[in-house]
Amino acid sequence: MIYSRITGTGSYLPEKVITNFDLEKMVDTTDEWIRTRTGIERRHIAADGQTTVDLAEVAARRALDAAGIAPTDVDYIAFGTTTPDLVFPNCGVLLQQRLGCRGGPAFSVETACAGFMYALSIADKYVRCGEARRALVIGSETLSRITDWSDRGTAVLFADGAGAVVLEPSEAPGILSTHLHADGQYKDLLCCASGVSKGFAPKLKITMSGNEVFKIAVIKLGESVEETLAANGLNKEALDWLVPHQANIRIIQATARRLDLPMEKVILTVKEHGNTSAASVPLALDVAVRDGRITRGQLLLLEAFGGGFTWGSALVRY
Ligand code: UT7
Repeated sequence: MIYSRITGTGSYLPEKVITNFDLEKMVDTTDEWIRTRTGIERRHIAADGQTTVDLAEVAARRALDAAGIAPTDVDYIAFGTTTPDLVFPNCGVLLQQRLGCRGGPAFSVETACAGFMYALSIADKYVRCGEARRALVIGSETLSRITDWSDRGTAVLFADGAGAVVLEPSEAPGILSTHLHADGQYKDLLCCASGVSKGFAPKLKITMSGNEVFKIAVIKLGESVEETLAANGLNKEALDWLVPHQANIRIIQATARRLDLPMEKVILTVKEHGNTSAASVPLALDVAVRDGRITRGQLLLLEAFGGGFTWGSALVRY
């Protein structure tokens, strides 16, 4: 049986940083409120003119370097983003052009914060069935472009960044399973409700019923991690690391409690990164791989939840 295996990770954060103290000057909020309610202290924001694909290119090159693969050898690109550079061509194709690899499939998936989980799940299937051999999976966002900087309920949360992994075929696992879900009943609770076909509203901005999203995220992520372990016949104790979507420290703590996992076994970047949507999981993964916490052979549970709602998880033998 062929598995897909993560052979390299990479990430990139834009240089500009906005702290909670900066936000105090922009909206009616305090550093204390943001830290205690979300766990966030600072976040990175793209420079003027710096696009989602600009961020992704750096992350992708770093992941390819780590895997020892030439950019021109990439034969498949799955790109999760909610903030594409253009209506079309899609971000996967734009990245393909930058990397100089030609001919293989390149596409983007717009499943909000679950974008990387969806992209990973799709790419995994292609590698497993032998149709892709050097796949790049990306999560990259410039959420600052659709953040309403006058809304304290959302402005303190969202941020920019990119993360990438390379998937290659392997006889040893590998990605053990992925689990994707969506429920459109909740479409109005977290959205950016304008677009090409519907028409652009005066403001192209994220709106969110934060508290309702919070409660459902805790439930769905809890179910998702249990589903993932059950599908693999594994106990909670088998896990080495939880690599969660970095939306809110309290949501992460609730998921860790459900897994009986001490917080020392949870990769946390929310304090420094904020919520980078599709980029958040591969960013956190890359941070922990590069600082030596995540090592080869360990068992990781990746999960994310976002607008739609969309959510998903993956069990990975790193
Ligand atoms: O990545 C996709 C998924 N997204 C998420 O998972 C986000 C989920 N939601 C959350 O993380 C939290 O709901 C928030 C951080 C957005 C809000 O935290 P909360 O504990 O749910 O607060 P709340 O919305 O119930 O608001 C509590 C109070 C309200 O004031 P009153 O009505 O009690 O007087 C808000 O107006 O906090 C107020 N508030 C703020 N105060 C200071 C809301 N935002 C702020 C703020 N600064 N930035």
